[in-house]
Amino acid sequence: MTRLYGAVSAVRRREFTAVCVWAFGLFHLLNGIPHDVIPISSCGEDFMQLLKWSPEFELGLEEIDKQHNQLINLINQLTVAAEYNQPNSVLLPIVEKLQEYANSHFKAEEDIFTMYDYPDRQEHEAEHATFIGSIKYIRRQCEMLDTSMSSKIRDFLLHWFCTHIKVNDKEYKRFIDNAAL
Ligand SMILES: [Fe+2]
Ligand SMILES: [Fe+2]
Repeated sequence: MTRLYGAVSAVRRREFTAVCVWAFGLFHLLNGIPHDVIPISSCGEDFMQLLKWSPEFELGLEEIDKQHNQLINLINQLTVAAEYNQPNSVLLPIVEKLQEYANSHFKAEEDIFTMYDYPDRQEHEAEHATFIGSIKYIRRQCEMLDTSMSSKIRDFLLHWFCTHIKVNDKEYKRFIDNAAL
């Protein structure tokens, strides 16, 4: 009997979790995710994990940190879209936002490079240009293909976040900090 009760409550918990995640996902798809409150999915272990802002991502440059936070929001919107296997027509507005994000964010960083005469700017800007090219390609794919691109775009952005933002962006911040000494 206890085992039966355990099984039933496990099913109920799972159903409740699914409803929580669905409501959470729908809310954020419709409203965007507020940049400072992004809970990791607290409803269930086997569902999507949303990326949460952490101090280790912080560069200490207000505008740049805000923009990196916007990217986290977009990654989370794609995670939600991937969870529900949303069609590419639903992803296109997110991809358009990504293009706008990339243009304004990269310009802000490149202005900083000019201001500080950053010696590694060429390599860094080449990475920005590659990212912009990739997003253009992804947008074309979304317009052409029927199979949902949500997981692929999310994975691509997560990789970008973990390599470019956590490594390359931190390098220019280190240079700025040393230049100020
Ligand atoms: Fe950046
Ligand atoms: Fe950058």
